[in-house]
Amino acid sequence: MTAPVLSAHRLFKHFGAVTALDGADFEVCEGEVMAVVGDNGAGKSTLIKALTGALVPDSGQILLDGERVRFHSPIDARRHGIETVYQTLAVAPALDISANMFLGREQRRPGVLGSFFRLLDKPAMRTRAAATLRELGITTARSVRQQVETLSGGQRQAVAVARAAAWGSKVVVLDEPTAALGVREAGQVLELVRRIRDRGVAVILISHNMPQVFEVADRIHIHRLGQRVALVRPTDVSMTDVVAIMTGARAGNEGVADADLPHGDGA
Ligand SMILES: Nc1ncnc2c1ncn2[C@@H]1O[C@H](COP(=O)(O)OP(=O)(O)OP(=O)(O)O)[C@@H](O)[C@H]1O
Ligand SMILES: [Mg+2]
Repeated sequence: MTAPVLSAHRLFKHFGAVTALDGADFEVCEGEVMAVVGDNGAGKSTLIKALTGALVPDSGQILLDGERVRFHSPIDARRHGIETVYQTLAVAPALDISANMFLGREQRRPGVLGSFFRLLDKPAMRTRAAATLRELGITTARSVRQQVETLSGGQRQAVAVARAAAWGSKVVVLDEPTAALGVREAGQVLELVRRIRDRGVAVILISHNMPQVFEVADRIHIHRLGQRVALVRPTDVSMTDVVAIMTGARAGNEGVADADLPHGDGA
């Protein structure tokens, strides 16, 4: 296996009295789907936010391609090729699919029309949005000019995932992308996850759905009480094993011994 494209070492994050991250480690390699599982409140979303610039951890290290990084915002992380679909989905319902895919990255018309009059190059964006959706196998929306508020929940989710897939050159992070979806729509999102992975991008997939995790993940990061307590392959363990580790009924394969160390390493 190659060196991790994105990794974290001993992340801590406190919210008042709550320790959301308690020395969490993380890694994902290119062309790999890393599922992150854990009970409600285990700290999965906090981990993802720390990795993607939505929050700054109190301490700990984050490495991208082996280089120490410190993201101050999701935009900062995006500039480094990390795209995230957060648990609370962010699409602009009043805009069409194409505009949503280019949100914050609008293409201007060539020449003075774009540089001085700031006119958007809508035809170019539509062509590219349509090509991206085709490439990703998203064919349920009739046209990229369709307003997102007229789409079904699953189609909206697909647009958000497609946007991440289109721009995430290194890492695509999906926090519960199938939670609100029907079987068919969830299947489409999982297929999309495979396609992103097959392009060599690292995919981080947070999910409570064990069958889906076992279907698509190359490795599973099991999170409990703010830490990674186990890192396993779905081929080596059963769903029952994973749930037992998640809930603390069984010990994971990583030490919690260093939990007693003083918080922080001066990061
Ligand atoms: N902004 C915040 N302010 C205060 N506490 C927070 C904040 N964000 C998270 N927490 C707390 O940190 C802990 C971890 O929350 P987090 O959202 O990371 O869990 P999660 O594993 O994603 O859970 P779920 O499966 O329900 O999405 C929880 O106890 C939560 O209440
Ligand atoms: Mg969460």
